[in-house]
Amino acid sequence: MGVSFDKSARNRASRPGEVRPTPEIAPVPGLKFEIQPATNPTSEKERAARLVDPGFGRIFTDHMAVVRYNQAKGWHGARVESRANFPLDPAAAVLHYAQEIFEGLKAYKRDDGGVNLFRPDANARRFRNSAERMAMAPLPEPVFIEAVEQLVRIDRAWMPGGEGSLYLRPFMIASEVFLGVKPSAEYIFAVIASPVGSYFKGGPAPVSIWVSENYTRAAIGGTGAVKCGGNYAASLRAQAEAIDHGCDQVVFLDAVERRYIEELGGMNVFFVFDDGSLLTPPLGTILPGITRDSIIALAKDSGAHVREEAYTIDQWRADAASGKLKEAFACGTAAVISPIGKVCSASGDFLVSGGAAGPVAMGLRKKLVDIQYGRVADPHNWIRKVL
Ligand SMILES: Cc1ncc(COP(=O)(O)O)c(C=O)c1O
Repeated sequence: MGVSFDKSARNRASRPGEVRPTPEIAPVPGLKFEIQPATNPTSEKERAARLVDPGFGRIFTDHMAVVRYNQAKGWHGARVESRANFPLDPAAAVLHYAQEIFEGLKAYKRDDGGVNLFRPDANARRFRNSAERMAMAPLPEPVFIEAVEQLVRIDRAWMPGGEGSLYLRPFMIASEVFLGVKPSAEYIFAVIASPVGSYFKGGPAPVSIWVSENYTRAAIGGTGAVKCGGNYAASLRAQAEAIDHGCDQVVFLDAVERRYIEELGGMNVFFVFDDGSLLTPPLGTILPGITRDSIIALAKDSGAHVREEAYTIDQWRADAASGKLKEAFACGTAAVISPIGKVCSASGDFLVSGGAAGPVAMGLRKKLVDIQYGRVADPHNWIRKVL
C-alpha cells in the first residue's frame, strides 16, 4: 500500500522560507525503496575519464531514484534503478501546462572518505511547498530524503574529490494523460545525480550583473517563492539580455514599483555595509534560498547585524558611490557565494568593492564550505552523513 495525498498537509505546511530544525526522518509506512543496480554500469576507466573535468550538469551517474503517484495508490513503486529515459505520452500534462517542480542540493566528500549532505531536510520542505503551490501531490519529506540518500549511496563511486561535489536534482512532473487544464492526477518524482567540478577554478571571480528593466521574474501571489520550471523558462530572455550586454548574470527588480532588488536568475543577493551589517531582500516573491538562510545564521553567529529589508537599485548605486556599501554578493547551492564586482543597466554602470571580491563574502564562503565538507564543527546541525 502506498501513501496517499494527505489533504490536511496544507494546514501543517510551513510558510515558504520558514526554516525549522532538522526533523527526525520517520519511515513512511508501506513505502520501501526497491534497489535494482544497473546491469551494465559505466566502467571504472570511463568513469575516471568523465570525472577529470566534469563541468556542470552534463555528465550523470548510473542510477536514478523514482517514486510514482496516482490517486488510487498514493505514492508507490519507489525504486532505485538504472538511469533511463521516461516513456512519456505526448498528452502528459507536464508537456502542456508545465506542472513541474525541482530542487538542487549537493553531496560533499569528507577527508575521511565519507559523504555529507547539506540541509536536505530544507530542500525536502521547500519541495513540498513548491508542490502545494503548483497543486501537485506533496511528496512526504522522508521519502524525498531517502530517495536522495539511496542514490548517493549506490552512486558513491561518482563522488568527485577535492572541491568537486555530486549535484543532486530531485524533480517531479505531472504525468496524467489528459489535455484538460486541471491539477494532474498522476505524478513521477525522480532524483538524478551529476558530478560537478569546483564552480570557480582558482577562487571565486567577481561577477558582473545586468539590471533587467524590461522583464520581471515574479509578482505577489505568483510563483516566485517556489522552484517550478516555469520561473526559469520565464527568466531566460532576461538572462540572454544580460549576456548581450556583456554581463554574467541578470538581477530582477520587483514587478510593482520596478525599483526594489529581488534576486538573480538563480541566486539570492546580499549587501555588506561600512558598519559591518548585512542586508538581503525580504522573502515573499523571491526563492527562499537555503544558502541565503545559512548565511544569515553564520553572519549572526559572528555578531553581524543582518536585516531582511527592501533595497532599491538607486540606493545601491548611491551607497556604492558614497562608500557606504562595501560589498555585494550573490549566493546559492551551485556557486555558494559569488562576489558582485560590477552592476550594469540601461542608465549606466557602477563598480562594487572596486570590482574585487570582498573579505566578508570570502570569509562567509569559507565558513560555509568548511561546514559542508565536514572540515569544521557544525553548530547548527546542518550536516547529514550519508556514508
Ligand atoms: C531563483 C533562485 N534564487 C535563489 C537560489 C538559491 O537557492 P539555494 O541557496 O537553496 O540553492 C536559487 C537556486 O536554487 C534559485 O534558483
